[in-house]
Amino acid sequence: MCGIVGVTGKENATEILLNGLKKLEYRGYDSAGIYVNDQKGNGYLVKEKGRIEDLRAAVGPAVKGTTGIGHTRWATHGAPSQANAHPQASADGRFYLVHNGMIGNFRQLKQEYLADTKFVSETDTEVIVQLISHFVNEGMETKEAFTHVLSLIDKTSSYAFLLMDKTQTNTLFVAKKKSPLLIGVGDGFNVVCSDAMVMLSETHDFIELTDGDVVTVTPSAVEIEDKDGNQVERNQFHVDDDATASEKGAYDFFMLKEIDEQPAVIRGLQQTYIAQDGSIKVDKKLMDAMDKADRLYIVAAGTSYNAGLVGKNIFEKIAGIPTEVHIASEFGYNMPLLSEKPLFIFLTQSGETADSREVLAKVNELGYESLTITNVPNSTLSREATYTMLLNAGPEIAVASTKAYTAQIAAETILAKGLGMIKGTKQATEFDTGFELTKAANAIQSLVDQKDIVEDLAKKYLETTRNAFYIGRGIDYQTAIEAALKLKEVSYVQTEGFASGELKHGTISLIEDKTPVIAIITDQKTASLTRSNEQEVISRGANVINIVSENLATDGDQIVLPEVHQLLTPLAAIIPAQLLAYYTSKERGYDVDKPRNLAKSVTVE
Ligand code: F6R
Repeated sequence: MCGIVGVTGKENATEILLNGLKKLEYRGYDSAGIYVNDQKGNGYLVKEKGRIEDLRAAVGPAVKGTTGIGHTRWATHGAPSQANAHPQASADGRFYLVHNGMIGNFRQLKQEYLADTKFVSETDTEVIVQLISHFVNEGMETKEAFTHVLSLIDKTSSYAFLLMDKTQTNTLFVAKKKSPLLIGVGDGFNVVCSDAMVMLSETHDFIELTDGDVVTVTPSAVEIEDKDGNQVERNQFHVDDDATASEKGAYDFFMLKEIDEQPAVIRGLQQTYIAQDGSIKVDKKLMDAMDKADRLYIVAAGTSYNAGLVGKNIFEKIAGIPTEVHIASEFGYNMPLLSEKPLFIFLTQSGETADSREVLAKVNELGYESLTITNVPNSTLSREATYTMLLNAGPEIAVASTKAYTAQIAAETILAKGLGMIKGTKQATEFDTGFELTKAANAIQSLVDQKDIVEDLAKKYLETTRNAFYIGRGIDYQTAIEAALKLKEVSYVQTEGFASGELKHGTISLIEDKTPVIAIITDQKTASLTRSNEQEVISRGANVINIVSENLATDGDQIVLPEVHQLLTPLAAIIPAQLLAYYTSKERGYDVDKPRNLAKSVTVE
């Protein structure tokens, strides 16, 4: 969380920083700030609580320069406020620092070295910038002080730092550990950013940094030192993405645009990973590693975890391989007994989630192989896993994940088919992946084309409610969990996803007059049971909305899902749920793309 940008060697540094921050806003939007230097001895620090537009309004015409740093914040230490916004400055106004991450031992450092220093913020970042200033005042050069301070930071900490020294007007001092950071390479200028996507208007060539790197960036040079102080070269990569993919176009919010993109994303995955003859085009070494494994461990957070729940069913049914799904933040510190030959699959849209990365680091230490399924090429989890499978879903900007969820399920389906074919399972032989995914993509298209039905339901049942329930059994229960997460995170309606048979064991006491209960029914063998559970809540006053597969629909079901393969029903059933969440949030007047307290890329544990 938190987004960082920096630029050196460009006449319009202020504009570049503000535009970059706007695109990085998905990483945090509590407060923001920039520091810009004009090479004539003038430095400008502007910070605001609130969104990037608030910062832009506060930046006067005089704030011009060629070198600068910027930050958009998701608060960790210290409430969102102007004082806690970054850049944080040293007391003498010489050093300016932006930071993404968390310094575990900042209180000890403050006590040990800065007992007499006056602080203006509650942030760990201010301790670091004051400490750099402290060591410079003791006689160190800026870079020496910077690296010395880095050496004092404890192991648990994470950081992406971007430092400016007012007396070295065109230099950016950069350091990275655990938090993502890239250097963008230009002709006569260079940039620094948390995410390549935000600097595509300036350059398409980026250098990936390794943990422990310290970098000195000027308009004409990028000098990288590794953690031992050796000069090193790091891999450079090219990003082709069309910058317009991250524009909203005619949509009010990215979330709706991304919901609408889902059929195309699934078709894209088919083109990439399924050959004309229906065979699976995935790295052979990866398929061999999966074949050798006796158990798959899917590790993920949030919506990606929910896609893992669906994936377990798909892997077990199509490929016949036992599959466990784990919440990354739990798994990292409470690892279960592992099988003899585990293979780990990390599902992560961003490829940067700290909870998942922590598990990957441990898996690497244990010497196991892993696959990261991600939307972001060259992301940390992609680089550090043995194998990567890209979702190619295009940038997902809305904080609430939609197209990454369906893309992850489609990717799991493709892998399950590939593995099942190697293992020779009957289910894999009979499962025509191209045909079934095409059917699912068509079903999604038809559902997104009927938005008005869902919009009306959102207005009728969800606009003013305090709480709501999604219920289902088996695979529908898994969809219910993701559906509930979508609704609660963007509309603030307290929503739970429940196994419908479990309601009567306690939770049914929460049902009141007009409580919305949304039932997902796609499985013939449990349909009548879920319908009975519905009757139980209707008798207690609940308003029921049904999301039902075509073959199971009866009169009065409000949302009918076009037929798709039983294993892939979550791909269709989640669409109305995404739309219900979207319209409820919009009707309530919220910023759908940026729900309160959240950030898109969660880079702290
Ligand atoms: C919810 C949502 C989050 C993410 C979670 C993991 O809509 O987007 O729950 O799914 O933070 O993020 P990634 O997939 O980037 O690891």
